[in-house]
Amino acid sequence: MNGLTEASILSLESPLARVVEVHEALGSTQERARELARGGAHHGTLVVAGVQTGGRGRLRRAWGSPEGGLWMSLVLRPNLEAAAAPRLTQAAAVAVAKALREIGANVGIKWPNDLLVEPGGRKICGILAESSIRAAGRGEAPRVDHAVLGVGLNANLDLEDLGVTDREVATLRCELGRDLDPLDLLRRLLQNLDAELERVHDFAVILDDWRVLSVTLGERVRVKRLGEVLEGLAVDVSPEGALLLQTRDGVLELYEGEVERLLREGDAYTS
Ligand code: BTN
Repeated sequence: MNGLTEASILSLESPLARVVEVHEALGSTQERARELARGGAHHGTLVVAGVQTGGRGRLRRAWGSPEGGLWMSLVLRPNLEAAAAPRLTQAAAVAVAKALREIGANVGIKWPNDLLVEPGGRKICGILAESSIRAAGRGEAPRVDHAVLGVGLNANLDLEDLGVTDREVATLRCELGRDLDPLDLLRRLLQNLDAELERVHDFAVILDDWRVLSVTLGERVRVKRLGEVLEGLAVDVSPEGALLLQTRDGVLELYEGEVERLLREGDAYTS
């Protein structure tokens, strides 16, 4: 992103940016960070790119990453059992939502970790947490060896830069009517990420914040997962962050899926 350098990022003295790589252009920060992690990179290794030519999102979808966005991936070495790895995704969503709210963006979280601006639920940031699991000794649970946490934030961009004109996408520039200082933005993200990741073992408190920031709970939703489509009321999240969906057949606990908000009776689109 314009103006970010390794020296300026190191000057933030963030525990999450002890080792920094800045690239003007890169295929994907996620792939680069993964390569570094496999080579033994430390917790707190950060890769940032001004442009990604092969950015990708969940389900290997392409992620448009032109100049002006904040495209970054972090190598994390959390001390977590493999079963708790999904916590990273919701912890990161809470952190990024808090950072964006600090600068005045009206951001909420769509389960599990999409950052949407209201009104209209337009996506402003995507989070991709990918964990690599290490087998443990006999009788021990497998653990997270490392995780790569990718954050793609539509920052100092116009919708046209992203090649989209639909109403489902937002940028900070459009929402706030101004550009953000990239280093200040990164500092806020790293501070909030560090704070949330520090309490990942105390996941109940992260989920309490997640509930407050959620735009999913209390909504009628459609969830697409594993080739099936479910509809119901999003009533809560389980202690491990699964979505609890009240359906005609009872409450389902969902660990994955694409959530779409359904209009409530009496709601109307405004144009
Ligand atoms: C999503 O599907 O919502 C997640 C999108 C994650 C995009 C970010 S941009 C930085 C990092 N590098 C990538 O290739 N992807 C992630």
